[in-house]
Formats: sequence, structure tokens, C-alpha cells
Amino acid sequence: MQLKKIQLANFKNYEALSLSFSAGINGIIGENGSGKTNLLDAIHYLCLTKSAFNSVDSQNIRHEQNFFMIQGNFEKEEKESEVHCSLQEGKSKTIKVEKKAYTKIGEHIGQFPCVLMTPYDTDLIREGSETRRKFFDVTLCQIEQSYLNNLHRYNKLIEQRNSLLKQFAERNFFDKTLIETYNTQILPLAKSIFEKRSEFISQFVPILEKYYFFICGEREKISLVYTSDLQTANFESFFINQLPKDLLLQRTTKGIHKDDYVFEISGYPINKFGSQGQQKSYVIALKLAQFELLSLLKNLKPLLLLDDIFDKLDDSRIKKLMELMHSNTFGQVFLTDARPERTQGLFKEIGQEISLFYTGNEKTFLQKV
Ligand SMILES: Nc1ncnc2c1ncn2[C@@H]1O[C@H](COP(=O)(O)OP(=O)(O)OP(=O)(O)O)[C@@H](O)[C@H]1O
Ligand SMILES: [Mg+2]
Repeated sequence: MQLKKIQLANFKNYEALSLSFSAGINGIIGENGSGKTNLLDAIHYLCLTKSAFNSVDSQNIRHEQNFFMIQGNFEKEEKESEVHCSLQEGKSKTIKVEKKAYTKIGEHIGQFPCVLMTPYDTDLIREGSETRRKFFDVTLCQIEQSYLNNLHRYNKLIEQRNSLLKQFAERNFFDKTLIETYNTQILPLAKSIFEKRSEFISQFVPILEKYYFFICGEREKISLVYTSDLQTANFESFFINQLPKDLLLQRTTKGIHKDDYVFEISGYPINKFGSQGQQKSYVIALKLAQFELLSLLKNLKPLLLLDDIFDKLDDSRIKKLMELMHSNTFGQVFLTDARPERTQGLFKEIGQEISLFYTGNEKTFLQKV
């Protein structure tokens, strides 16, 4: 799969831009603040219908303007598709493929898979469980449309159940039948999502271990443990029996919205006991495993977006990544760097061609190494 062309209008710092990409490695070069990450983000929009960095869609409209437009021409399985994403201030976002709009934008997710590596990836280790759930959910949603639908429905139902619990407390009344209606809808969805997550993790972990070992060649055993309330024996009655606690706290205290993925090294949580280097290797392994499993399950190579990784990685990890580039592990790659000579040098070393695009110039131009 490849993105052959992109056109932007009023997207972040871009007033207007039109670029044709190469099927291999595309290097986006430019000074700090010149729009390198923004260009990757536009590609992220085309694949996943949202920004990777700013969840408020309207803030991605160029300052002082009232709309943005991103258009991409993809080639997938020898078929060309034009993806058009636009947002008019005050209106909802539209995504069209071949000029046909989706009724539900979510249907687009998974059509053009992508994997993004950014300097913020260590947040996956340092931040709370929500960040990790989001990472695995974005992956699972790209694999299976029904997972995305179930997750949406589940989250909506939990939101509604929580506001019901709040109303009970505020108005000092209780309606058992009403809460049971929610329970009977929530429980099967929770079970289905739990099963999908468990199945996914069992496939994901061996690939993760392989890449961790590849990156640092160290002998420590890393692992990833999926933890869920659904692992409790007889979860349904456990969930129902939480009602007094739920009423007291005015929220649903158990369920898959509390799941976590514990990243471990030698049996201990990596956020507390891993060195910085081990943490860095772990997150790269996470992203590479995400890439491999998506490739396997979608039967195509996702776009790989690498934001500023040469800046954040040390030489030995860069070398490993370049080995993967050299062995054609990836398909089309987009990477950003503020230092053109570094990127050029690295690709020259492995004899791989790279197309360079310079941001921040009046005209963004193309140059082959
Ligand atoms: N909605 C917007 N309207 C106009 N400009 C914006 C908007 N959002 C972000 N920008 C501008 O985009 C620029 C940042 O772009 P970006 O993050 O892509 O830079 P970069 O080239 O990746 O820089 P670095 O090398 O520091 O990572 C900033 O100058 C910022 O002001
Ligand atoms: Mg950047």
C-alpha cells in the first residue's frame, strides 16, 4: 500500500501544499517548527481520521481560517483511491473515498493502516492505563471494524450508566430495572472486547519479545501482561455485586474500561524498574510489533511514520532500525529530520534510495539521494 500524492489546504501551518511521494523512503527535512510533524499528522488524518497530536479537530485548521482540507491518493492492491478529509468550522468532519462520504466516519479506520513512532512514545510507559488502552485499541480497531463498533457502544453505555448513577445520588431515588437494562447490554459487549484483547495480546507478545531482543540483544526477559476485571471468575455476578460501590462512587467501577497492559522486564514493571535505555527499546519493540502484526492480519504493509526518531535514538538503536530498512521489512516510510546530512548519510550507508522533501521553503521540492 502506498500514498502516492497529498494535497493540503489550511491544515495547521500549511496554506497550500501538493506533493507526490515515492513508494519507498520519504524524508521530510526542515528546521524546527517548519511543519515536518504537521505533514506526518496530515497523513495520520488520512489513515485514522484524526490527528495524532491534537484531538481538537478545529485546532488543526490554519490560524485565522475556517476550514482545512487534506486529500490523499492511495494505491492499495493495485487499486487507486482518493481519500478526502475536510473540516469546516462549526460543522462535523467529513471523510470521502472516491467522492463518497461515509455515514459513520469510523468505517474508514483500518482501510489504510498506519503505524506512527514519535518521541512521545515513552508516554506509553510513563502515563496511566488510558494511554496504553488507546494504543492497543487503535491497533485492534484497524484490524476489525466490529471491535471499533463494540467499543463505541460499550463506552456510550458506560457513560449513560454513570450519568444514571449520578442522577440516583442527586435525586435520591433508585430504579433497579433501569440499571439492569444497562447491565444486560454492557456485559456481553465487555466479554467480546475482553476476548478480542486477550486473543490479540497472545499473538502480540511473542513478536514484541522478538523485536526487543533484536533491538538490544540483551538477555533480560521482557513481557507484557494484560490485566482485566474480566479475568475474575464469574465476572457477571461480580459486576452486578459492585452496585453498592458504583452507587456510592457514582460511576461504573468494574469493566474493560479499567483494563491495563503491564510492561515488564525480568518480571518487574518497566516504568519503575527499567532503565531509560530499556524503556526506549521497549517502546520501539511495541511499535515494530504493532507494524508486524498489522501487516500480518491486514495482509499489507501499513504506512510507517517516523517522527524525529534519529534525534531521540542512540546510534546502536538507529543501526538496528536501519537494518530493518535495509531488509525491506517496511513498505512506504515517511520520516522527519531537522538534519538532512544525517538522514542522507544513514541511507547512503545502506545503499537505499530516499526522496527528500524540504519543508519551510517557499516551494517544497524533491531531491533524490
Ligand atoms: N492551527 C495552526 N495554524 C497555523 N500554524 C500552526 C497550527 N498548528 C500548528 N502550527 C504551527 O506549526 C508549526 C509546528 O510545526 P511542526 O510541529 O510540524 O514542526 P516541526 O518541523 O516538526 O518542528 P520540530 O523539528 O521542532 O519537531 C509551529 O510553527 C506552529 O505554530
Ligand atoms: Mg516535529
